[in-house]
Amino acid sequence: MTHSAGGSGPQSGPDSAPRSGFDKLALPYRWMEYLTFGPLLSRTRRAFLPQLKQARSALLLGDGDGRFTAALLRANPHVHATAVDISAAMLHRLRNRVAQQGNADRLATLHANALSALLDGPFDLVCTHFFLDCLSDAECSTLAHQLADRLAPSALWVVSDFAIPPGSLHGIARLLVGALYAAFGLLTGLRVRTLPDYAAALQSAGLRRIALQTRLRGILRSELWQLSADADPANGHPIAHE
Ligand SMILES: C[S@@+](CC[C@H](N)C(=O)[O-])C[C@H]1O[C@@H](n2cnc3c(N)ncnc32)[C@H](O)[C@@H]1O
Repeated sequence: MTHSAGGSGPQSGPDSAPRSGFDKLALPYRWMEYLTFGPLLSRTRRAFLPQLKQARSALLLGDGDGRFTAALLRANPHVHATAVDISAAMLHRLRNRVAQQGNADRLATLHANALSALLDGPFDLVCTHFFLDCLSDAECSTLAHQLADRLAPSALWVVSDFAIPPGSLHGIARLLVGALYAAFGLLTGLRVRTLPDYAAALQSAGLRRIALQTRLRGILRSELWQLSADADPANGHPIAHE
């Protein structure tokens, strides 16, 4: 695996990680988020942070400027994190954030497309916050199956993402998600235009949802999945709404 630990060493694999349209968002990303959703996305990412204290080897895909990576390393002093991102600028901010809090020795970064990254594993935790929505159904499925081979038994996988819930907010949610895709398409060149069915991908790779929290009446979802966990994938209990 091409990576840097503690902020030194090689940091990119140019063949597998071309320049990313997300680079130019690395600086304003956090403020764009606060201006549009206030603290809601941050709360969505951190929903299951207390449940991640047993993790020892975490893989963070597309964590952007690294606010969640930093929070995880702070909350769990025993975990080592590998952060993979296609944007060198996002990874740079992530490394700086983690270094500032003195946890660079527990971080490795990999500048690569998560779909073709060479990862060692085994990981007992995977975190994908507002990342799977950058992928198509087929890419989600490929990723989930590739990673399933790199997971420790009973590994956890945390997902944060947008959703289009049924009911009265369905139309508004569709408009919102459509507008977000249009904006990201314009700003980053992202080609995906619809939310992928990541639940189907994770289930077919052998994971089961064990917990779910929703915010904004179902438009924001925090999900906790587990490899070979004994849970009801249809219900995903326990469920909490805000
Ligand atoms: C919408 S941002 C989400 C950032 C952060 N996880 C959050 O919660 O706000 C998507 C992130 O995934 C990265 N990304 C997009 N496609 C990727 C890919 N195929 N492989 C690796 N990283 C990717 C982008 O560079 C960006 O940092």
